[in-house]
Amino acid sequence: MKQRTLSIIKPDGVRKNLIGEVIKRFEQNGLTPIAMKMLHLTKAEAEGFYAVHKGKPFFESLTTFMSSGPIVVMILEGENAIDLNRTLMGATNPSEADEGTIRRQYADNIEQNIVHGSDAPETAATEIAYFFNALEVCPRP
Ligand code: CMP
Repeated sequence: MKQRTLSIIKPDGVRKNLIGEVIKRFEQNGLTPIAMKMLHLTKAEAEGFYAVHKGKPFFESLTTFMSSGPIVVMILEGENAIDLNRTLMGATNPSEADEGTIRRQYADNIEQNIVHGSDAPETAATEIAYFFNALEVCPRP
C-alpha cells in the first residue's frame, strides 16, 4: 500500500553534514521525497510539533535541541512508507538500533538521534499538515 510519512533530518544530522547521506538512503530504498524544505524552528514551533510529549521528562531538552539549528523536513512516499522509514532509521535509542541503520551509524544518543519519522498513519497526516500545504507537495507519476 502506497503511503506518505513525515521525515525530519534533525539539527544534529544537518550539523554532521548528513543531509545527502540520509536522503540517498531513502531514495535507494523505495522512499521518494515528494516535498522538502529547510527550516529553523522556534522553541514554540518545536513544542507544537512535539505536543504529544508535553509533560515527559525529556520534553524541555528535546524542544531546545530541535530549535537549536536548521532541520530538513520531507514528505516521503512509497510502499509501506511509515514502517519502511522506521526500519531505515532504526530504534529511537541508537544503542538499541540494528546494525546498518541511520541511528545506529550516526546518532550520539536517544535525544540527538539524527532523524524523526512518523509512527502511524494518523500521526503522519497530522505531522505532514504541520509543515506542508497542498501546493508544496509534488507527487510523482
Ligand atoms: P523522535 O522519533 O523524533 O520522537 C520523539 C523524540 O523524543 C525522539 O525521537 C527522541 O529525539 C526524543 N526522546 C524519546 N525518548 C527519549 C528519552 N527517553 N530521552 C530523551 N529523548 C527522548
